[in-house]
Amino acid sequence: MIVTAALRAGTLTLIAAEIPDAARDARRLMAFALDVAPDRLTLVSGDEISLKQAIRFEESVASRALGRPVSQIIGRRHFYGRDFIVTPDVLDPRPETEILISAALEQPFQKVLDLGTGSGAILVTLLAEQMGANGQGADISDAALNVASRNAVALNVSERADFVKSDWFENVDGDFDLIVSNPPYVTADEYSALDKGVREFEPKLALTPGGDGLMPYRLITERIQSFLRPFGRLLVEIGPTQGAAVKAMFKESGLSEVQVLKDFDARDRVVIGRLVP
Ligand SMILES: C[S@@+](CC[C@H](N)C(=O)[O-])C[C@H]1O[C@@H](n2cnc3c(N)ncnc32)[C@H](O)[C@@H]1O
Repeated sequence: MIVTAALRAGTLTLIAAEIPDAARDARRLMAFALDVAPDRLTLVSGDEISLKQAIRFEESVASRALGRPVSQIIGRRHFYGRDFIVTPDVLDPRPETEILISAALEQPFQKVLDLGTGSGAILVTLLAEQMGANGQGADISDAALNVASRNAVALNVSERADFVKSDWFENVDGDFDLIVSNPPYVTADEYSALDKGVREFEPKLALTPGGDGLMPYRLITERIQSFLRPFGRLLVEIGPTQGAAVKAMFKESGLSEVQVLKDFDARDRVVIGRLVP
């Protein structure tokens, strides 16, 4: 069988399983099966597919049809221009989080703290982009911290990054001129309405803190004064309905220049503030 025919069959399987973006996912899985970069797939589309490659593709498609995210099947996710290791222990880094990265990089920083680092996507990207800076990634999950450390090594920032098991600020030491967080923020009600694939395959701990989804922001803003250097910045990712509530918490905690930034779909996505003494 040639690549295009196998690809068509895989796409149809994903469409039948009601997977959104079935064609795009099938292409990513085929690139994985053939071990070629996704943007080179067209160049090999007329080639014969080997039995081993066909089996790998079919197994991947079957797994995706059950709802497993592509990143977990191929073990990788492209984020802000780099490939990150992704396992079932961490949130699959989302494109929306790149908004937080761009905003953080608008000003230089020396020392960054990433609360709820997960795969390390935020911390590792910031350190890779800001040469000379160092930082700490904190997470309550040992398994996530292990993935974050592997990403720091793979992306050559491990000498500037350290990782700590911590319930938000609990075991964090020192002060920082940039603190970032993409905490779990889905409400308890929203969680039960999430896509089955997300609920079944991504860690609940990474998605929801329960209740109104705002508890991590309360805990972070309550203690922010002890960890942020003068003129330091706090940036957090939020859910689209949380802008006003989180903005109010930033102001309540004494931060200034508080702004809510929008994502690609014009939904509130990041809250930013600065500690002006
Ligand atoms: C939404 S994920 C973000 C992962 C990664 N920073 C990203 O943006 O892709 C939230 C992360 O917060 C961590 N987390 C949940 N509760 C926590 C707590 N009480 N203290 C520290 N980290 C926590 C989860 O383990 C998870 O890795």
